[in-house]
Amino acid sequence: MRRILITGGAGFIGSHVVRLFVKKYLDFKIINLDVLTYAGNLENLQDIEGMDNYKFIKGDICDEQLVNRIFKEEEITDVIHLAAESHVDRSIKNPMRFVKTNIFGTVALLNAAVSTWKDNFENHTFYHISTDEVYGSLTDEGYFLETTPYDPKSPYSASKASSDHFVRAYANTYKLPIKLSNCSNNYGPNQFPEKLLPLMINNIKNNKPLPIYGKGENIRDWLYVVDHAKAIDYVFHKGILGETYNIGGFNEWRNIDIAHLVCKIMDKKLDRKKGGSAKLITFVEDRAGHDFRYAIDSSKIMNKLGWKPSLQLEEGLSRTVDWYLENTGWLTNVISGDYKSYYSKQYISLQRN
Ligand code: NAD
Ligand code: DAU
Repeated sequence: MRRILITGGAGFIGSHVVRLFVKKYLDFKIINLDVLTYAGNLENLQDIEGMDNYKFIKGDICDEQLVNRIFKEEEITDVIHLAAESHVDRSIKNPMRFVKTNIFGTVALLNAAVSTWKDNFENHTFYHISTDEVYGSLTDEGYFLETTPYDPKSPYSASKASSDHFVRAYANTYKLPIKLSNCSNNYGPNQFPEKLLPLMINNIKNNKPLPIYGKGENIRDWLYVVDHAKAIDYVFHKGILGETYNIGGFNEWRNIDIAHLVCKIMDKKLDRKKGGSAKLITFVEDRAGHDFRYAIDSSKIMNKLGWKPSLQLEEGLSRTVDWYLENTGWLTNVISGDYKSYYSKQYISLQRN
């Protein structure tokens, strides 16, 4: 029987991974360790919280004593590690928070895994979830491959790159059985509205300005979050130990084009005049060190493991907008004091408008 520790399971991607595993693998025990930062929300998991094969533990991955205790008491066989500080803009304002959670926290988990499993590493997996941002920024051409050299450019991506290096170093030094995946930009239900798409949806709904950094020409490669959760299932079950898999949707969009697409979808759904929401688009100061383009080559996971994305952006975005419009209570609850003060500091120019 597998007893899987999923970290960060109350967050955006983590909650989709927890739901998938709890519902699909009734003979596994899923232990969700999450400290519940502003981005962690147990409402995301209301539908599965009473299931027998699920347990939530509120705690910090940096708390070494707690992590060691959980490994022993819960007899953890595997880890799927998602807990992280994940927002680039916050990393620019407070890098140390990212160093603590993303690096120290990962090392605390690695240490616990080595010390608990060291007598017999067989039948264990430490699966680390990472990002395409560790590869840096692309120009108009090319894709990130699993072999692309690391070149992180923000405090967030530097902290994720460091955690990836630690995971591989533990495999080399202590023979810890590891897997990694590096994914592109996710979108979908339950994403905290500081990230581009839910921020746009929320602001359009409330007739507030839509802040676009710089000229809106930066490019991101979008993947529906449920497809990422399924990819994680593929890697966990079929991936080869020691290997890395890039995950992406071959779905590149310029920020300004995606903003117009959300406006178009929402004009229809809100019965607004065509072009009504697009008037809210407001160009603001660029993000410091803003990576120009991310684009993932996901041929390896597609060819070797048989995974493929199920949705293109237009369809996924329409479903996402429906979810946010239907779950206004969820939005109201997550927009807490912390987010309000973050938002007013981040978008000072908009506050003056
Ligand atoms: P998120 O910010 O929505 O959620 C992070 C979760 O981790 C929250 O529930 C939070 O409470 C928890 N957490 C934070 N610090 C913790 C700590 N010290 N101890 C325990 N729990 C803690 O993040 P997300 O967007 O769901 O990203 C999840 C993972 O996937 C991250 O590792 C991120 O780097 C990676 N990733 C994200 C994307 C994306 O587009 N969002 C893409 C690729 C990879
Ligand atoms: O590529 C994977 C990464 O994608 C993940 O590792 C990160 O955790 C996740 O946050 C995301 O990072 P980005 O910085 O790409 O996502 P964000 O939603 O913050 O921004 C997407 C693009 O939109 C980026 O080019 C910056 C721009 N942007 C963002 C915000 C919040 C704006 O133009 N205006 C905004 O208000």
